[in-house]
Amino acid sequence: MIKVMRYFLVALAGLFYAQSASAQVSIEYGEYLSAECTACHLLSGKESNIPTIIDWDPESFIAVLTAYKNKELENKVMQNIATRLGDDEMASLAAYFATIKPKEENE
Ligand code: HEC
Repeated sequence: MIKVMRYFLVALAGLFYAQSASAQVSIEYGEYLSAECTACHLLSGKESNIPTIIDWDPESFIAVLTAYKNKELENKVMQNIATRLGDDEMASLAAYFATIKPKEENE
């Protein structure tokens, strides 16, 4: 719980910092951008052969995208996608996907 709170505060601080640096970072902008991602990454949180990206803490979400962008992670598809994302886009996507919680198994 404390860990969760910490992530939340880090995310919030990040969001405020980013917002003062530019008006581009927001959950709404992340939701808008997420249309490209959810063609592959299911919002339900179900894992197919593509990992789920909902309910992550924003810090690691940004770190992973940055690692794809820097080609430290090997997946070509994600490298191409991450290369096109700027800091504002990554922060917005991280903020948005962090708000999506897994659904119950039985739908
Ligand atoms: C064409 C399908 C596709 C699209 C579109 C796509 N991804 Fe991915 N993504 C993948 C696959 C496949 C992996 C697993 C790659 C690997 O094994 O390294 C992945 C991995 C990831 C991971 C790491 C997950 C983990 O558990 O390590 C993140 C974060 C991620 N994607 C975010 C995004 C975001 C944000 C977008 C939209 C901007 C996006 N992806 C769009 C297919 C896609």
